Amino acid sequence: MKLFTPMASSRLVPFVFLLLIVGCSARAPYPLPSRGNDGYKQPLQTFRAYNVAHRGSNGVIPEETAAAYTRAIEDGADFIEADILASKDGALICFHDMKLDNTTDVAKHTEFARRKRTYEVQGTNMKGFFTVDFTLRELKTLRVNQRFKYRDPQYNGMFSIITFEEYIQIALDAPRVVGIYPEIKNPVFVNQHVKWPGGKKFEDVFVETLIKHGYKGTYLSKQWMKQPAFIQSFAPTSLTYLSKLTDLPKIFLIGETTDPTEDTNQSYWEITSDKYLEYISEYVVGIGPSKDTIIPVANNYLQTPTDLVARAHAHNLQVHPYTFRNEYPDLHFNFSQDPYKEYAFWINEVGVDGFFTDFPESLHHYQQWTSPSQ
Ligand SMILES: *[C@@H]1O[C@H](CO)[C@@H](O)[C@H](O)[C@H]1NC(C)=O
Ligand SMILES: *[C@@H]1O[C@H](CO)[C@@H](O)[C@H](O)[C@H]1NC(C)=O
Ligand SMILES: *[C@@H]1O[C@H](CO)[C@@H](O)[C@H](O)[C@H]1NC(C)=O
Repeated sequence: MKLFTPMASSRLVPFVFLLLIVGCSARAPYPLPSRGNDGYKQPLQTFRAYNVAHRGSNGVIPEETAAAYTRAIEDGADFIEADILASKDGALICFHDMKLDNTTDVAKHTEFARRKRTYEVQGTNMKGFFTVDFTLRELKTLRVNQRFKYRDPQYNGMFSIITFEEYIQIALDAPRVVGIYPEIKNPVFVNQHVKWPGGKKFEDVFVETLIKHGYKGTYLSKQWMKQPAFIQSFAPTSLTYLSKLTDLPKIFLIGETTDPTEDTNQSYWEITSDKYLEYISEYVVGIGPSKDTIIPVANNYLQTPTDLVARAHAHNLQVHPYTFRNEYPDLHFNFSQDPYKEYAFWINEVGVDGFFTDFPESLHHYQQWTSPSQ
């Protein structure tokens, strides 16, 4: 059975313009495809690796926009993934970088020319236009662009930044059960620069938003299956703090081998040790490492695989690596430029439990071909 109907791109364009027009309201005032049916939704599949649409279908449409998420749902994603940051006035938004520079048209907005700042982030000075220096209203005047020059530019400048709540609403409006996978992004920096009433922290406001929209329950519980969500963070102290606020499953993200953790300044080697995996498994259901740390890469060829996946599984932790992309240099030469070969390898040889992919459509087609849903 077909779970969704891919929208022809000719139909997508007017549709995404509509999204653009209504982008400022919390709820779309027109019915999305899910509305008006009997309320039954095709459940989340749990029999094969999760298809996590990294920042939406951002291989095609600029990342973290309503159009990228809507497209990901049409493309067959199990989860839509987002990075949550904050505006100056404390609104939670979907945006990846601390700075607006690389993926928006902020440089063209002369009214913001004097908003450029230099901040120290983990001991390094960063200069640019930071989300934490803009109100939500100001952020909504910007338009999002593709991050990579080698991607289709036709949607650049069409879509606005959306809020965490608008993103949640897109998942809830999907015609089948689609999970959310929000990341608490740069919590140390955000808590330094944004203040909420009553001394609340970023983490508190983040969880309040999830609870407000009905997200709760342990992994695979009945409640969770209705509104699936994984919470992810690179900051262990955020995850342990969050575990007191919500029983939703959490994923511990692991950066490059050279990156210390932003909050506890622990090395990659420390946080991937058996001792640490044992500790963190009290708080999280899985880890999200970079695929290139699981199997190191040199000259774009895979090297000898590490035992990280086996050790994580031995601690009953799922492994959801990032980021699967259909293009050079992220699609390594071993796979002869064929993303299906890469998915086959990671499913059959490595045995991972989920994929962060910029191209959920490719992963969906691959999985429907090799292990179709009933
Ligand atoms: C923005 O792009 C520049 C140049 O490509 C790159 O060096 C930098 O890492 C990017 N910044 C972020 C925050 O991704
Ligand atoms: C983080 O740890 C490294 C290595 O132990 C050390 O050199 C560095 O000063 C530490 N940084 C901070 C901010 O504590
Ligand atoms: C990837 O290709 C390199 C170079 O041919 C080879 O040494 C390596 O074993 C290959 N890795 C895998 C997992 O196929």
